[in-house]
Amino acid sequence: MRVLGIESSCDETAAAVYDSGGGLLSNVVTSQTAIHALYGGVVPELASREHIRTVWPAAEQALAEAGCDAASLDGIAATAGPGLIGAVLVGLSFARALAYALKKPMVGVDHLEAHIYAGFLEHDIPFPYISLLVSGGHTSLFLVSSWDQARCLGSTRDDAAGEAFDKAAKMMGLGYPGGAIIDRMAADGDRARFPFPRARISGAPLDFSFSGLKTALRTFLETPPGKIAAQADVAASFQEAIVDSLVKRTLAAAKAQGVPRVVLAGGVSANSRLRDKMTSEGEKAGVRVFLPARVFCTDNAAMVALLGERRLSSGASSGLDLPAYASSRFSR
Ligand code: KG4
Ligand code: ZN
Repeated sequence: MRVLGIESSCDETAAAVYDSGGGLLSNVVTSQTAIHALYGGVVPELASREHIRTVWPAAEQALAEAGCDAASLDGIAATAGPGLIGAVLVGLSFARALAYALKKPMVGVDHLEAHIYAGFLEHDIPFPYISLLVSGGHTSLFLVSSWDQARCLGSTRDDAAGEAFDKAAKMMGLGYPGGAIIDRMAADGDRARFPFPRARISGAPLDFSFSGLKTALRTFLETPPGKIAAQADVAASFQEAIVDSLVKRTLAAAKAQGVPRVVLAGGVSANSRLRDKMTSEGEKAGVRVFLPARVFCTDNAAMVALLGERRLSSGASSGLDLPAYASSRFSR
């Protein structure tokens, strides 16, 4: 089965072709970062307009790179939610129209679920595993037992980790989006230089909280020594506080569930320190850590096409009246 996947939930217009036999045949991502950088964050209305402009070219390019035409597709998959609702609607409506025109089945895919299973694009991962989904909108731990079963074990109570990175970069005057900038800057910094707080939620050991850390950084930057501290040290120390929380809870979840496998997902799992620390701490704890390539961590359509292929192959499909939705059954 050959499936075209479409992703448009935030500020990336993406299209990819996944084939049951041949695997991933193409993976096109058109980023809108330059447009939103002017405003220091994603502007929903601009995102929707840009998706309308780029969705068909992205799909055409994905088909061309896969060496196939639309008629040879067996189905279409698109992100149905959660995300910026106008943005989701563009990709979903495009997929519905294409499926109707081609008389092929279509399936709506949950964006979070697509991230959770993205590890299968490169690895053969035995179930069950612990998924850490860490992005600009989400920070959650899941116990993933099969292609149809993923249970949320813990979530952030306030900001997502990516949001904390982005807000920190803004406060430090580093630009947008901040995660990758802080990651690069932290490489030359001393991560033990400033002890930023690591929040704990009493009674909920697998939940996260990053809003206190953000406030601590703001206060720190306004007074000495924060005012005059080397930015690399601040970036490295701030990043370490986030990474520490993520690694500790993920490995605690693996231990509590008796599951010796962890798969990272979402944009923040591109973070170099998170990848290194999760791997080294995982080794010490006897946990194997699967790290998807960076292109499969951030938003992409390969993960949508893969999950779509799975769903359509097992006989599932959505009606052409499938609605877009803003919050996922996978969020808590
Ligand atoms: O999954 P994603 O592309 O979009 C969603 O939020 O769904 O994740 C984007 C987030 C942004 O907050 C961005 O700053 C963060 O991922 N990010 C990183 C890195 N690369 C992207 N955060 C830390 N280190 C990175 N290298
Ligand atoms: Zn995402």
